[in-house]
Amino acid sequence: MPPADTKKNEHTIIFVEELKRQWLETIDAIPDPLIVVGPDYSISKANMAMSEVAGTTVKKIVNKKCYEVFAARKSPCENCRMQKSSEGDHMPGYEIYNKKNDRWYEVATRRLKNLSGQTSVVQIYRDRTDAKKLQNQMAQNEKLASIGQLAGGFAHEINNPLGGILVFSQMMLREMKKTGKHYQDVVEIEHAARRCKSIVENLLAYSRQRPVKPLLEPVDIHELIQSSLKLATLGLAKTTHHETKLNLKAPIHTLISDKNRLTQVFINLFKNAFQAMAKGGQLSVSTSSNSVRTQHFLLVEVADRGCGISPADLIKIFEPFFTTKDPGQGTGLGLSIVHGIMQDLGGTIEVKSKINKGTTFSLSFPVLQPQKTAGK
Ligand SMILES: Nc1ncnc2c1ncn2[C@@H]1O[C@H](COP(=O)(O)OP(=O)(O)OP(=O)(O)O)[C@@H](O)[C@H]1O
Ligand SMILES: [Mg+2]
Repeated sequence: MPPADTKKNEHTIIFVEELKRQWLETIDAIPDPLIVVGPDYSISKANMAMSEVAGTTVKKIVNKKCYEVFAARKSPCENCRMQKSSEGDHMPGYEIYNKKNDRWYEVATRRLKNLSGQTSVVQIYRDRTDAKKLQNQMAQNEKLASIGQLAGGFAHEINNPLGGILVFSQMMLREMKKTGKHYQDVVEIEHAARRCKSIVENLLAYSRQRPVKPLLEPVDIHELIQSSLKLATLGLAKTTHHETKLNLKAPIHTLISDKNRLTQVFINLFKNAFQAMAKGGQLSVSTSSNSVRTQHFLLVEVADRGCGISPADLIKIFEPFFTTKDPGQGTGLGLSIVHGIMQDLGGTIEVKSKINKGTTFSLSFPVLQPQKTAGK
């Protein structure tokens, strides 16, 4: 018979092992990545969620630096407050951006002290990317709505005097001799006034102060893409080689929508794509379908291999008057109008871009009634 003390020790060991097992299972059950790091950023513990982000096993993470494992960096992440957290008991959470997987995390930290007084920090990374996107979207919508109001008021005021300039210059042109000294000057005035008028019209369309009668009818998106493409290529220089690749595969491609406004959406996207490929290149347009529970969606992707958009510009492209084009080449209203129309039609538009690689706009339209148009 083993002495009573040995038996008690065995029980204690089993009890401690069981506690350890339960503890490890508990931290593995946490869906957010979690690590325990020392002041030198070395990981001493990690959960399964962290091993998934790192793309390797928990064992391989231990003793590595947190920034290497989590963000594939050679130095601590920007905005990391781990050092500060190891000095105080309670630290407010902070946000970091992980370039490795293009996601935003809110980091909650808590200082730990072991029996010998050594300090480490528990860090839990909550993925905030979707919430942040939604927040940005809402802020963007609010901003666009107030700019729209301002722009609409301004356009409305300008419209009348502009109409006067246009009408009087046209009357003068009719009465002047083409060989007259000032004929060409008045032609210039008339051209400039026409250009201003088209800007004002765009502004009014953008602000939607002009009563827009929704003209809802069945619209075949595949046909509309092809006709918009023809219109968008009209003004292109014949010398530049632009190739177009259509991959129109969506089985459901008829929407109950506004044909003219949809045409405006695609003409703007196609024109921008061609302008981004000044030396020529390929524009691809593809369609597909998607269903979320009972709701069907028609998805359209417009992708070019043009100059791309920098991350700093990417957040501004839907703002009215944001343009990187030379004066006279763009007013910066195209995408803001596209954005407004997509909102009115209950759709969404997203963009992804890489400098010198190209840009892809992804549009999603809710399909109100499922329709059987496959094989059309
Ligand atoms: N496909 C694209 N590739 C690269 N940059 C783009 C693309 N689409 C839009 N952009 C950028 O977004 C800006 C805003 O586009 P938007 O269509 O609103 O205005 P614009 O083309 O400059 O002028 P407008 O359309 O009023 O003539 C552009 O100036 C350009 O910098
Ligand atoms: Mg444009």
